[in-house]
Amino acid sequence: MNYPTPHIKATPSDFGQTVLMPGDPLRSKFIAENFLENPVLVNNVRGVQGYTGTYKGVRVSVMASGMGIPSIGIYSYELFNIFGVRNIMRIGSAGAIHPELHLRDIVVAQGACTDSNFAHHYHLDGTFAPIASYEMLRKAVSSCEEVGANYRVGNILSSDNFYGDEEGLPEVMGDVSSWKKMGVLAIEMEAAGLYMTAARWSGNALCICTISDHLLTGECLSADERQTSFRQMMEVALETAVKLEK
Ligand code: HPA
Repeated sequence: MNYPTPHIKATPSDFGQTVLMPGDPLRSKFIAENFLENPVLVNNVRGVQGYTGTYKGVRVSVMASGMGIPSIGIYSYELFNIFGVRNIMRIGSAGAIHPELHLRDIVVAQGACTDSNFAHHYHLDGTFAPIASYEMLRKAVSSCEEVGANYRVGNILSSDNFYGDEEGLPEVMGDVSSWKKMGVLAIEMEAAGLYMTAARWSGNALCICTISDHLLTGECLSADERQTSFRQMMEVALETAVKLEK
């Protein structure tokens, strides 16, 4: 495949080595306008806005992934294979299922379990364990320390379902107790697809999430609170991108 691809109308030189990936295209625009210097729009196919600018002199890109494993699978495949991107860092939100996690905490996803069938197309004779790039992980952890973030490193669940099967509880995902029992920290919907795509196509990937809601207590952040905690995750992500350039 050559560029432009079906989903990204850009050239390889349009992207920095590291692409930050929020789920939401409007968040991508917000990050570019508020955290990057001289941001340039490099992709807008389907409104999936991608920008490249600089942070502390380092070229960094930000492009949305959309929601769910199939969507992040497409964008990460094309960025790694066609556009020569080396590092993709998902920056998202997640619902906590660990009693010691609190709203606004940052989860650095060392591994990503999944209930998705995505690994099926790799024809593996067993179960693949999707893990983060160790280099990205340790640099993100040291950035968490530097900015004084409350963070935890561990396993998350990338689920194909946001809504559960139960009637009357539309906003709560079904039974999470089996994952909780296995020490899984939080639930989101993309990391495992990103980690598997990176593994298959020799890229580096990491997912960091802020806890926006707690599935055990029912608490959730207001829109304003989301914005503040999001700033700290952005600082962690951008400082990690700078460290990756060294
Ligand atoms: N489930 C899936 N994705 C999420 C959640 C959740 O509870 N919270 C934030 N992202």
